[in-house]
Amino acid sequence: MRPWPSSPSCIPAPAPGDIHVWQASLVQPASLLQGLEQVLSPDERGRVSRFRRDIIRHRFIVARGVLRHILGRYVSRPPQKIVFQYAEYGKPELGPPDMTLQFNVSHSHDLALYAFTRNHSIGVDIEYLNRRSVMDRMKIARRFFSDMEYDALCALPQSKQDRAFLACWTRKEAFIKAIGQGLSCPLDQFDVTVDPDRSAALLSTRWDAAEAARWTMVALDPGGDYIGALAVEREYKQVQYWTWHDKVMR
Ligand SMILES: CC(C)(COP(=O)(O)OP(=O)(O)OC[C@H]1O[C@@H](n2cnc3c(N)ncnc32)[C@H](O)[C@@H]1OP(=O)(O)O)[C@@H](O)C(=O)NCCC(=O)NCCS
Repeated sequence: MRPWPSSPSCIPAPAPGDIHVWQASLVQPASLLQGLEQVLSPDERGRVSRFRRDIIRHRFIVARGVLRHILGRYVSRPPQKIVFQYAEYGKPELGPPDMTLQFNVSHSHDLALYAFTRNHSIGVDIEYLNRRSVMDRMKIARRFFSDMEYDALCALPQSKQDRAFLACWTRKEAFIKAIGQGLSCPLDQFDVTVDPDRSAALLSTRWDAAEAARWTMVALDPGGDYIGALAVEREYKQVQYWTWHDKVMR
């Protein structure tokens, strides 16, 4: 896999039909952490103060600070002037006048993924391949995946099941995050492709036979032991990938 290129310091916001996907390391030096914390809003600083563990606090500061910097570039506003509003289940969105720019964020272990597009709902998810045993994964799959997904997972060779579990999980999470419902949406009420070597796709939902055709999914490969996926309403023209670095802050 080619590593995602470092972002140039000036990137125009995604044009209609385009998707920008960024990754950022959540492990940053203390000097940078301070600068990122300064752009957070009072409610975000409140969240920071409620995290007990340093590592969790630092990861949140970086994830949210970087989001503010990228959005700030896109909408030509200082990062501290970005105003988020929160939908019913907590999905952060931009308020007027920037509402056409849609985004979503996911973080796992030391990495964050960000997805941006115009006019259409988008969701992203990243997971870290930790050492949880295949048996644990199968129990989780039995409990949360649809019957079709569970059967598809069981039919794969055992050597592939770890990645397949996470491919399925990230595809499902990307979708429930795109529609903004998060885990309030029962995960067994829709089907996605499971095989990590097969295109990511929403196959069907129990609530609307036409829903799956309205969504596109993209499998994301951030490198290392991470796996990701995004879901976007409608078709897209192109996906561009960037790696965030601190020069984007200047
Ligand atoms: C959204 C949700 C699925 C995220 O799960 P996760 O895998 O732990 O976290 P991720 O790293 O992928 O995503 C977290 C980010 O998603 C975004 N987010 C939060 N709520 C969201 C929602 N309802 N839809 C989409 N995105 C959401 C935020 O940017 C959040 O980042 P932050 O924590 O730094 O603010 C989960 O928190 C959820 O279901 N929230 C909704 C609340 C709810 O209905 N809970 C019912 C529990 S049964």
